[in-house]
Amino acid sequence: MSLPALFDLRGRTVLVTGAASGLGLAIAETMLEAGARTVLTDADEPALAHEAERLRAGHPLTEALPLDVSRPGAVDAVVDGIVARHGAVDCVFANAGISAGRGFVVEAGQLENIDLEHWSRVLQINLDGVLATVRAAARHMKPRGAGRIVVTSSIAGIRAEPLSGYAYVTSKAAVNNLVRQAAMELAPHNVLVNAIAPGPFATGINGGRLRLPESAERMRTHIPLGRVADTSEIKGLALLLASPASSYMTGAIIPVDGGASAR
Ligand SMILES: NC(=O)c1ccc[n+]([C@@H]2O[C@H](COP(=O)([O-])OP(=O)(O)OC[C@H]3O[C@@H](n4cnc5c(N)ncnc54)[C@H](O)[C@@H]3O)[C@@H](O)[C@H]2O)c1
Repeated sequence: MSLPALFDLRGRTVLVTGAASGLGLAIAETMLEAGARTVLTDADEPALAHEAERLRAGHPLTEALPLDVSRPGAVDAVVDGIVARHGAVDCVFANAGISAGRGFVVEAGQLENIDLEHWSRVLQINLDGVLATVRAAARHMKPRGAGRIVVTSSIAGIRAEPLSGYAYVTSKAAVNNLVRQAAMELAPHNVLVNAIAPGPFATGINGGRLRLPESAERMRTHIPLGRVADTSEIKGLALLLASPASSYMTGAIIPVDGGASAR
């Protein structure tokens, strides 16, 4: 296969959850630029409509559907609808996720102050939402004998992260083993399952905290590359994991973290 063909997604259909902002939006842009029909989904309908309209101007293969991943029936319906309309779904990015607030470096983030309702809500989106998305994708990909599933995890799921809340680090650690387990089950069916584990990216998460100058300052000492990442810096790995170039990769949790997890 030629080098351009290794990264060519023309003729493919891709679904991205949490695609109205941040990493999901950058991933959706990447898929469109590589030629894929791309279905952006998000629970934030106005933001989704706005971004989809902007993208459609340059990429007619842009589609948008409202979707809250904490509603498993709705996830199934969206995936079923894509398969009914386009014949198949080739790649699914289970990307939607929320923050759990500050970690134990502040009093509100310490064990005794964990609000169990908030804990459940974070797990419902970051873990149950990923399970619903992976399961809906696998249901179609397994019998077809082809497919890619890419989960947005975090380096906070690989090791302790004092700056992130308990529910967040727990959800991301759980998601990492969900990815490994699903990769084992689906490998005989040629369905590849991998995770991207980002470090700090300047997105809308946590009220856009990582876009603030004080975060940039903190990361200067916290991250070996000395800065917060731009969302465009997720594009290379997203394209690799969706494309023929990664045909021998499954069950991998891959950091994009400025060197943070190597410490
Ligand atoms: N930004 C970072 O530093 C960072 C680091 C590691 C991992 N991540 C992960 O990246 C993923 C994307 O986050 P981001 O940083 O781009 O944040 P973001 O807030 O910019 O984007 C997240 C998107 O998900 C959507 N969303 C939230 N709850 C949803 C739900 N229930 N159903 C569907 N959509 C929902 C939001 O509306 C938003 O558009 C998340 O899984 C997050 O945990 C982010």
